[in-house]
Amino acid sequence: MIWPGVIAHYRKYLPETEGPTVTLLEGNTPLVPCPYLSRLLGKDIQLLAKVEGANPTGSFKDRGMTMAISHALSQDCTSVICASTGNTAASAAAYAARAGMGCFVLIPGGEVAKGKLAQAMAHGAQVLAVQGNFDAALRLVRQISSNYRVALVNSVNPYRIEGQKTAAFEICDALGDAPQFHALPVGNAGNITAYWKGFVEYHRLGLASRLPRLLGFQAEGAAPLVLGHSVPNPETFATAIRIGDPASGKQALAAARESGGQISAVSDDEIREAYQLLADKEGIFAEPASAAGVAGLLKLSSQGFFSEAGPVTITCTLTGHGLKDPDTAIGLAQAAVTIPAEVEAAVQVMRLEPVAEPSPSPPTPAD
Ligand code: F0G
Repeated sequence: MIWPGVIAHYRKYLPETEGPTVTLLEGNTPLVPCPYLSRLLGKDIQLLAKVEGANPTGSFKDRGMTMAISHALSQDCTSVICASTGNTAASAAAYAARAGMGCFVLIPGGEVAKGKLAQAMAHGAQVLAVQGNFDAALRLVRQISSNYRVALVNSVNPYRIEGQKTAAFEICDALGDAPQFHALPVGNAGNITAYWKGFVEYHRLGLASRLPRLLGFQAEGAAPLVLGHSVPNPETFATAIRIGDPASGKQALAAARESGGQISAVSDDEIREAYQLLADKEGIFAEPASAAGVAGLLKLSSQGFFSEAGPVTITCTLTGHGLKDPDTAIGLAQAAVTIPAEVEAAVQVMRLEPVAEPSPSPPTPAD
């Protein structure tokens, strides 16, 4: 079967949008087993990563954006607007370009990862760098979209949540049931809200026999839902979730409570370690914010959280691709070594032992 995108695949479970569907064939992302991390988490634990970086613009936002932009088009909107820490901007810009619509993105000045900014710009969005954080940018776009002819495509737009819930459907379809636990990072709190909606709907339809416990994780310096109050100056190197006043905070707390799960905080060091383990040990390159879910699971496991759980399947959303934030990747890695174009110099750096009898060189095209 050729994958038709989330709207066509899950049409029965989504609100109708009139007119053409704007899609880049998002969704159908891999659920990748993580054997190394599973062992770290505990004896009877299987961890599977929902690799949302495999979406067309490299993040989970595409699932919601296909819905929001298709709906905006059906309403004859000619332009859309969003506030963003980067991924929403990249996704909105791509889908708006596809729909032939204008796109305005308001980003917190100087705090958006380069890959995301490059995407928004490449797709022709008008980028406004706000002197303030994400929360200030979101306040602005809400006011602008209420008073001017432009459609808001942040996750306060219910069509975004509808599209994003399809990730929960895909997990149930892949496993044949819901997992016991699902972990994910929490920023503006739309995604955890969407996952819970998806899991609950599948359960009600009899397509999953149970509901997972949702485990949401915020960065310690940007953890309003853990602290119980907004954070005026949120801080974390995981810029995607540097949010102090999440728009869907109430729904996120309800999702955690109703599922028997929780929202807790992880430090930047813990996020960094999980980010490196994912890349080094599993071969999965996810952006820093995405690693917050894995960091949280490792932390909970070290506190004995899963010790009574028996054999369990845990799924974890890796929300965005590592290429989104090349500066962080390069900053944390071993620096490249510059060498002259000589074998001797290269093998010295690589500390390679010579073979006893050199094999003949492979033939070159000229031979
Ligand atoms: N992970 C990544 C990579 C994100 O970009 C975001 C949010 C989240 C997690 C948190 O998801 O907001 O639904 O709780 N990014 C938004 C943006 C805020 O503007 O791209 P959430």
